[in-house]
Amino acid sequence: MSSSYYTPGKERASKVCQLFQRIAGRYDLINDIQSLGMHRLWKRSLVRRAASHSSAGNQYPALALDLCCGTGDIALALARHGFQVHGVDFSEKMLEIARERTPGALAGRIRWSCQDVLALSEPDGSYDLITCAYGLRNLADIPAAIALMLRLLKPGGQLLILEFGKPENPLLKTLFRLYLKMVVPLFGLIFCRDARAYSYILDSLDHYPAQRGIDELLRRQGFIQTSWQNIIGGTMSLSTAFKRQ
Ligand SMILES: C[S@@+](CC[C@H](N)C(=O)[O-])C[C@H]1O[C@@H](n2cnc3c(N)ncnc32)[C@H](O)[C@@H]1O
Repeated sequence: MSSSYYTPGKERASKVCQLFQRIAGRYDLINDIQSLGMHRLWKRSLVRRAASHSSAGNQYPALALDLCCGTGDIALALARHGFQVHGVDFSEKMLEIARERTPGALAGRIRWSCQDVLALSEPDGSYDLITCAYGLRNLADIPAAIALMLRLLKPGGQLLILEFGKPENPLLKTLFRLYLKMVVPLFGLIFCRDARAYSYILDSLDHYPAQRGIDELLRRQGFIQTSWQNIIGGTMSLSTAFKRQ
């Protein structure tokens, strides 16, 4: 089954937005189920990496931009680590949940904005850190998104991207694809009455350059010290890059 939510070209963003508007209420639950709760560990490792870079530079309170922030896992964790965070997402329903999850004590440290990240028009060099968890694969123009990230980072700033990946081991690759094709849509059917919403993960991954391709794009666009860490054999990956000082 292929997803009616994956459409290349002009309609891409509106279809993706429809999808997240539809599944917002069950998004966190399905994340926990489909990753057996492990997405929390992967996100924690992203935030630890961000915090250690930032404290090494003694830049508190560092300014962070969390792109495609969804229900706020990364933005909230960054705020807890002392960052001043701007979370951006175009799904009002995902943001509604993020706002509800924001404790009063963190409210002064987080700003939520509802807009297409590709339309962000803030000044060059606005942020010390940019994060994007499970967001980049959804964007209509990935090279444009990377150019935007580079523009918005301060010199020496850090970019962290957590995403689905493409394992190189043939057996793991087959098993992972089967899982995304057969099992994950079943969760979508059971919990959102919409299997196609969750078939979208495999469709979008098939059109995504994944860890190797993203690393190449980052370098080509001028990022330095690029690297990626494979998680569970490359089924997920955490990419890191820096803007030149
Ligand atoms: C898979 S969720 C990830 C949410 C969160 N970062 C996490 O890790 O749980 C992807 C999010 O990206 C948002 N998104 C996708 N394309 C976007 C765009 N062009 N502009 C803003 N948000 C976008 C969706 O609305 C959705 O909330």
